[in-house]
Amino acid sequence: MSHTFATEDQVRVRVPAKINLALCVGAQRHDGYHELATLFQAVSLYDDITVRASEELVCEVRGEQAHHIGPGDENLAYRAARLLKNEYGVSEGIHLTIDKQIPVAGGMAGGSADAAGALLACSRFWDVDASLEDLMALGSRLGADVPFPLMGGCAVGLGRGETLTPALSRGTFHWVLALSSTQLSTPEVFQRFDELTGHHPPPTTPEIPRELMMALTTGETKRVGAQLINDLHEASCSLAPTLPTTIRAGVELGCHGAIISGSGPTVAFLVDSEQEAQHLGELLTSLEVAQRTYHAVGPVPGATVIDDHRPHGHLMDPVPA
Ligand code: C5P
Repeated sequence: MSHTFATEDQVRVRVPAKINLALCVGAQRHDGYHELATLFQAVSLYDDITVRASEELVCEVRGEQAHHIGPGDENLAYRAARLLKNEYGVSEGIHLTIDKQIPVAGGMAGGSADAAGALLACSRFWDVDASLEDLMALGSRLGADVPFPLMGGCAVGLGRGETLTPALSRGTFHWVLALSSTQLSTPEVFQRFDELTGHHPPPTTPEIPRELMMALTTGETKRVGAQLINDLHEASCSLAPTLPTTIRAGVELGCHGAIISGSGPTVAFLVDSEQEAQHLGELLTSLEVAQRTYHAVGPVPGATVIDDHRPHGHLMDPVPA
């Protein structure tokens, strides 16, 4: 492939973070991963991935947390672009810019979201013949959490978490996301889970509680809040000992449910409205049990092209954010 690029040729993709309303962890498999049954919900905290022409593969990260992320091989978005390029025999490179808002190592699949966004943006820019399913299959080779941000909404994840089925959900849920000043490494949390469960082996096929799936279809926050479950809770709390204090504060202040997102340390509190979210968020920061809070809603759609000025005359109106 060889194109003539104008300087304004670019594609921008907006990609959501996720929280896990259920994270039921089973036994460790031969490949080192744990068998999971998880219920994902995409929420309105986003990273933007912008791509433009370059001879080389280049990745730039912008935002307050940029210094936590390298530009090369350790960056999942960079690896995603390289994988797509190799799989589809693309000759040119690409310049990736990640505008980062999703917390790094926060349990919200920020790195996976960036990889998902990079797959979609690069596939558009290079005009490769890849369906969403193709991109999700490529994504699962990069990490268990990469396919979900492409799909968005609510979905059950089985296997390593990458085998997705859309889940029925009613209404919009309001969350307060309490970000921590610390970070947790997902492999370390799973390792601690193994240590803690050493004498009580987890099930080989974990299941999401039926009552949670039912509650989700009613949209009743009280019912959903009461059923939130994360089997990594103890492991995350033992590595980040201030987490129980944060959770207790939110519960005492009247949220309908609280859960550590993924391997943590971000905590998600379920409330009824934007006003309640703002109020709770302010209280949590003023009590100094959260470094920063966000109000987010879910479910939201998966990775979306919000700006498309490509070569080959594919000019489209930007979709409002
Ligand atoms: O797939 P991903 O690279 O995001 O996973 C990060 C790490 O989390 C894995 O290397 C593994 O240690 C742990 N993990 C796991 N079981 C899963 C998903 C992740 O043990 N189902």
